[in-house]
Amino acid sequence: MTVNAPALHPRATELVDEFTAWRHHLHAHPETAFEENLTSAFVAEKLKSFGLEVATGMAKTGVIATLKGNKGDGKRIGLRADMDALDIHETTNLPYASKYPGKMHACGHDGHMTMLLGAAKILAENPDFAGTVDFIFQPAEENEGGGREMVNEGLFDQYPCDAVYGMHNWPGRDVGTMAMKPGPMMASYDVIEIVVEGKGSHAAMPHLGRDPITTAGQVLLALQAIVSRNVNPQQSAVISPTQIFGGDTWNVIPDTATIRGTVRTFDPAIQDMIEERLKTVVHSTAAAFDCQAKVSYQRRYPATINTEAETGIAQAAAAKVVGAQNIDTDPESSMASEDFAFMLNEKPGSYVWLGNGPTDGNCMLHNAAYNFNDDAIAYGVTYWVALVHEHLSA
Ligand code: NI
Repeated sequence: MTVNAPALHPRATELVDEFTAWRHHLHAHPETAFEENLTSAFVAEKLKSFGLEVATGMAKTGVIATLKGNKGDGKRIGLRADMDALDIHETTNLPYASKYPGKMHACGHDGHMTMLLGAAKILAENPDFAGTVDFIFQPAEENEGGGREMVNEGLFDQYPCDAVYGMHNWPGRDVGTMAMKPGPMMASYDVIEIVVEGKGSHAAMPHLGRDPITTAGQVLLALQAIVSRNVNPQQSAVISPTQIFGGDTWNVIPDTATIRGTVRTFDPAIQDMIEERLKTVVHSTAAAFDCQAKVSYQRRYPATINTEAETGIAQAAAAKVVGAQNIDTDPESSMASEDFAFMLNEKPGSYVWLGNGPTDGNCMLHNAAYNFNDDAIAYGVTYWVALVHEHLSA
């Protein structure tokens, strides 16, 4: 895919050095889930300096700023960026590498904050749109569901948006390209724990016990039949057992064995079916081998599902920034997950990917050598501004 002459916002180009400095500051000071205190203070201070109304404290460290357009009343949209870093020890050796050992912005959320702040600054300078924009900075996107927390604390009661939009940097896609489509962009994320309960015995006398190790092996195999036999081959799902453990030594059959893993789906109906089938298969298989099983099935994040109309708006905005020829309108959905899904469960909207450039071998998101690409900043900033004009045109 080639990158044609871009239509970057002139202010995004003029201010890109300032934005880049923000990004490097944020990169050097990564904070993890619900502890984004310095990050949140930095974001709030910048938003206030643009003259915006700023609210802090939702979901502990969340920040929301509101801007009304100068072309009268209209719709209300939320633009969301995530603020948290990961528990990874950075290996980039960059001059602005993490100052906190074991913490790192390895998912580019430093870039997400920077681009949304940049758009807020430009829009505050010239709010030439009709309606209202809420700039939503959420904590704890990774694992801990900060987006869910904000929704539970009344995000959309206090900020009644008509639509909500998100963006993530995407390595392996060229800078100056974007990707989005209606329907599922990211999978749901469920975790499972299965404890097979038998009866311990001497390993030489298995007939005196009920062996949970052998039974766990059968359960493990039986689980794999759910995707292959119960899911429509035209659709997708994955069940990945990732941990199996039990026992302490060579010559003792233990009382229990544990399997843990994750389930990913795009369609809530398939998610429901898998949860039900998984429980049945585990209980029945355990019973067949004279054991019992306890199953814990936790739904962490729902699938990230874009709505049709808002994705059309996102595509129209993106076309003005990178050119229609640089938009992938049918990207392969990712089996990873994203807690922006909780916001999309409440409001129509669209979550898009912004090209971050080549992956340099293995340098993907969540890698200790990952870095957001500063060349993408002006594209992301311009996209947000274009999206506001597209959705809130007078
Ligand atoms: Ni991320």
